[in-house]
Amino acid sequence: MTESSALIRGLEGVVAAETQLCDLDGANGRLAYRGYDIADLARQATFEEVCYLLWRGELPKPGQLDRLSVELIAARPIPSALVDAFRLMPKDTDPMRALQAAVAILGMSDPETTDNSHEANVRKAARLTSQMATAICAHHRIRSGQEPIAPATTLGHAANFLYMLTGQRPSPVVTKAFDGSLTLYAEHELNASTFTTRVIVSTQSDMHSAVAGGVGALKGPLHGGAGEAVMRTLMEIGEVANVDAFTEKALAEKRRLMGFGHRVYKAGDPRAAILRGMAEDACRQSGQFKWYEMAVALHDRINKAKGLIPNVDFYSAPLFYSLGIPVDLFTPVIAAGRIAGWSANIVEQHDDNRLIRPRGEYIGPTRRAWMALEKR
Ligand code: ACO
Repeated sequence: MTESSALIRGLEGVVAAETQLCDLDGANGRLAYRGYDIADLARQATFEEVCYLLWRGELPKPGQLDRLSVELIAARPIPSALVDAFRLMPKDTDPMRALQAAVAILGMSDPETTDNSHEANVRKAARLTSQMATAICAHHRIRSGQEPIAPATTLGHAANFLYMLTGQRPSPVVTKAFDGSLTLYAEHELNASTFTTRVIVSTQSDMHSAVAGGVGALKGPLHGGAGEAVMRTLMEIGEVANVDAFTEKALAEKRRLMGFGHRVYKAGDPRAAILRGMAEDACRQSGQFKWYEMAVALHDRINKAKGLIPNVDFYSAPLFYSLGIPVDLFTPVIAAGRIAGWSANIVEQHDDNRLIRPRGEYIGPTRRAWMALEKR
C-alpha cells in the first residue's frame, strides 16, 4: 500500500457499518437490541419475539408472533439429503464443522437461496433459524448412534431444540433458561463472526454462504469456541478446593484464560452478569452446584489477579452443562442463537450495501530483480 493510512491491528475500535440492530456500550457495560435492554429481553421475551424484533424492527403484536411461530415450526424439518450427509460423515466430525457443511447443503435446497431481496432474506432468516436447530440435533444423534428425532409442532423454539436433542420434553424452568441464553447470544454488533457474514454478503453473495462463513468464524476459541474451553477448564480443575492452585499455575504459565476478557467491554459484560444468575439456579436445580461454585471462585481469583472480566462464554458453560448439553455442542448452541443476529445483519447489509474491502500494509521486500529458475 502506498497511500498513507494508519494500521489498526485487529481493527480495534474501527467503525465499519451503521446498524439499527445492536447498541453496545462497552464503557458502561450496556447492551440493547433495537433499544430494548438485554436484561429485559432475556428475562421476559421469548427467543421468537427477539427474532421478530431483530428481523422486523419492532416487538411483535400477538397475531404477528403467532404467524412467525407458525412459519418457524413449518420450517423445522430438514431435507433427507442433509440427514444422509450426516450419516456419511466420520463419527468424530466436529459438530461445528458438520453445522458449517449443513448450512451449505441447506443453501442447495432453499427455494430462495440467491434472492437477496429484503423480504426473501427475512424468510430465509426464519428458515435457517429453524433448520440449523434441527440440523445440530440430528447430527448429534447420528454421531451418537441414535436416530434423529422429528421436530415437535407444539413446542416453542427453545423447548423443541432440547426435545430434538434428548427426546424428553424439558420442564418450563429448563426451557426458560435455555430460551434466555439463546436471546443473550442472538446479536452482538460487529463481532468476528457477524463481521464475516457482512463481508461475505457485501460481495452480493447470499445468506447461506455468509452464515456458513459465520459458523467458521464462531468456531475459534477466541470467539464462540471459548465456552467449550471454559467447561474443559472447570473439568480440569475438578473441585472448588483446586481453584487457587490452578489459578497460580495458569498465571505463572501465562495461559490465556478462556471466558475472560473482551475486545469492547472493559468494565463488564452485561450478558455474563445475567448468565451468572441463570447458571446459579440451573446448577442448583440439577444438583451440580459445584460447577457454579468453581466458576465463581475462578472468576474471583482471576479478576483479583489480572483485572480480567468474565465474558458471555464464562457462565454459559456451567449453565449449558447443567442443562445437559454435551460440551462440544456449546458452540453450535451459540450458533443456534446467533443466527438471529447474523441473518439480521445480512438483511441490513444487503439493504444498504457497499463492498467491504480494507487494505493491507505491505511489509515484504520490494523491487527485487527477477532471477531465472536455473540461477536460483
Ligand atoms: N487471558 C489472559 N490474558 C488475557 C486475556 C485472557 N483471557 N484476555 C486478554 N488478556 C491480556 C492479553 O494477554 C494482553 O496482555 P498484554 O497486553 O500484556 O499482552 C491484553 O490482555 C490484551 O489482550 P488482547 O488479546 O490484545 O485483547 P483483544 O481485545 O485482542 O482480545 C479476546 C479479546 C480475544 C476476547 C481475549 O480477551 C481472549 O483471548 N479471551 C479468551 C477467549 C475468550 O473468552 N473469547 C470469547 C470472547 S466473547 C465471544 O466472542 C463470544
